[in-house]
Amino acid sequence: MPATPSSPPRGPTRLVVLVSGSGTNLQALLDAAADPAYGVQVVAVGADRPGIEGLARAERAGVPTFVHRVADFPDRGSWDEALAASCAAYEPELVVLAGFMKLVGPAFLEEFGGRCVNTHPALSPSFPGMRGPADALEYGVKVTGATLFVVDPGVDTGAIVAQTAVPVEDDDDVETLHERIKTAERAMLVDTVGRMAREGFAVVGRKVRIGRPVA
Ligand code: GAR
Repeated sequence: MPATPSSPPRGPTRLVVLVSGSGTNLQALLDAAADPAYGVQVVAVGADRPGIEGLARAERAGVPTFVHRVADFPDRGSWDEALAASCAAYEPELVVLAGFMKLVGPAFLEEFGGRCVNTHPALSPSFPGMRGPADALEYGVKVTGATLFVVDPGVDTGAIVAQTAVPVEDDDDVETLHERIKTAERAMLVDTVGRMAREGFAVVGRKVRIGRPVA
């Protein structure tokens, strides 16, 4: 009788998450990953600064952490190399920047280009940079949201994996608007990263497709 063809058993997708602040997006991923059916293991959390709640969340979850401050390196290139090396040591299949407030550089992209995603609190290509919610509010848009994209050398310019929209209310300030965005952003991040992990994904030019290519 011929052997039945089968794939070798596959473990959860290994994820490194990089943070700079409160880490609520990281927490959403950690919570989702507690269920084996989600298909993801957060193998390490890295940061560009010590003492942040994002790192504390990782420690409480028993996930190893590392910190590289730009100020501790002679130049930006050596910081970027150290960041790439520390991530690579955990052999991730996917790297998620979740509120990571630094641009990664050439060494990092050489290692993780095409398998590193970032979440941004605006609907790209509008309002790139560090002030997405504030810029949207100042512009007066009625709808904004969050964008998950594949990291490239630009500022929030990479191919879009997913977007979610939220209304801007008349009495919003930056804080209320950003909190509304973050609620939608966390749901988008958890849903999309889980599907990327379980179903695979392909980046072709500016198009990102999750799952098997349609024939
Ligand atoms: C998120 O809204 C994320 O999109 C934003 O920082 C917040 C982090 O929240 N990132 C940027 O603005 C990057 N340009 P968290 O630390 O609670 O996950």
